[in-house]
Amino acid sequence: MKKMKVYLDRKQSQSYEICIGYDILDRIAMMIANSRIAARYVIVTDDCVRPLYGETLLSHLTKMGVKADLIAFPTGERSKNFQSVLDLSGKLLDLGVDRKSALIALGGGVAGDLTGFVASIYMRGLPCIQVPTTLVAQVDSSIGGKTAIDLPQGKNLLGTFYQPAGVFMDIKCLESLPETEYLNGLAELVKYGIIDGEALFQQLEGGVDSIRSRNRQFLGKIIHTACTIKKGIVEMDEREQGLRRILNFGHTLGHALEAASGYRLSHGNAVAVGMIAAAQLSQTLYGLHGEDRERIEGLMALLGLACRIPKDITTEDILSRLRRDKKKEGDTIHFVMLKKIGLPFVNGGVPDDLLRKTIEGLRG
Ligand SMILES: NC(=O)c1ccc[n+]([C@@H]2O[C@H](COP(=O)([O-])OP(=O)(O)OC[C@H]3O[C@@H](n4cnc5c(N)ncnc54)[C@H](O)[C@@H]3O)[C@@H](O)[C@H]2O)c1
Repeated sequence: MKKMKVYLDRKQSQSYEICIGYDILDRIAMMIANSRIAARYVIVTDDCVRPLYGETLLSHLTKMGVKADLIAFPTGERSKNFQSVLDLSGKLLDLGVDRKSALIALGGGVAGDLTGFVASIYMRGLPCIQVPTTLVAQVDSSIGGKTAIDLPQGKNLLGTFYQPAGVFMDIKCLESLPETEYLNGLAELVKYGIIDGEALFQQLEGGVDSIRSRNRQFLGKIIHTACTIKKGIVEMDEREQGLRRILNFGHTLGHALEAASGYRLSHGNAVAVGMIAAAQLSQTLYGLHGEDRERIEGLMALLGLACRIPKDITTEDILSRLRRDKKKEGDTIHFVMLKKIGLPFVNGGVPDDLLRKTIEGLRG
């Protein structure tokens, strides 16, 4: 099992541990039991993860003498809303959960974001332990303390920065993950490879077969590297004032595409196309080497991620959604661009006609 610590404001008191291992649900229960984070725990999970890992984690905890309960919500993004916050809070009250308790977010990014949000406001804040079970959650959403729910007007519009009390991940959970969900996580892994040095990108290029076969040793290594990268970025910019924005590489256009497709295009595929578009814009505007752009497109294709925009999504729809981007400042939509693989920066804006041309050029 590998461990690392996230330090916020360089303070020991605000640090938390990330533990990564294979087939370690029992050890996760033991670490939680020994952590003395709280006097009792409530596992919050979705109804798909509950029978897969929820009941097992609960039974490990209770066998260790830990007072624990489990509550589940309907699986999927549609649960990341205010009604779920009210339902979960009501269930926590019924269980008599007080400020000596902690929540355990078990599942993908939805369980993590929703549980983290409830933990940050229930009785003015309970500790929240993240036990991510999707690749997206293991390499991205469980680390860094962003919590959120969606509003009818858009995704992640209500949220808090609320750091977890600990992050424990079992790579074995990825074996039951459906292919689309796995690909969603791979897109985030490629993003880390592009924004941080070149070593991870090369590792991904050389390990396509191991990635596709979900080789556990290889996954363990690259997940550890991705977590180290995210930890480093969050330590330097916890509240996304500057550096943390580079984590949005490919996401500005990706989010617009996902929404314009009515969420039929998966997040991973939308972000993959967004990253390819960002690489093309970087080549035109900032001299990214053509070879780097080709390597990015090539890796995406080898991993089975989308490289083209579906025909039924109109350019106008994409552009109008980009103009409504929640991270926009004034009239400027910020794109993360590349000088080369491993050297990203946030740019001030992309001319409309170039954006339109790039989108048109990416039609499938
Ligand atoms: N907070 C952050 O920094 C951050 C970062 C990235 C994404 N997010 C959020 O994360 C969410 C997406 O997360 P996600 O992709 O994990 O989606 P998700 O939580 O909906 O999980 C995807 C599906 O996989 C199922 N599942 C989970 N683990 C499984 C396993 N081991 N085996 C089989 N099935 C499993 C879930 O039940 C669900 O149906 C979005 O809401 C997004 O906004 C947050």
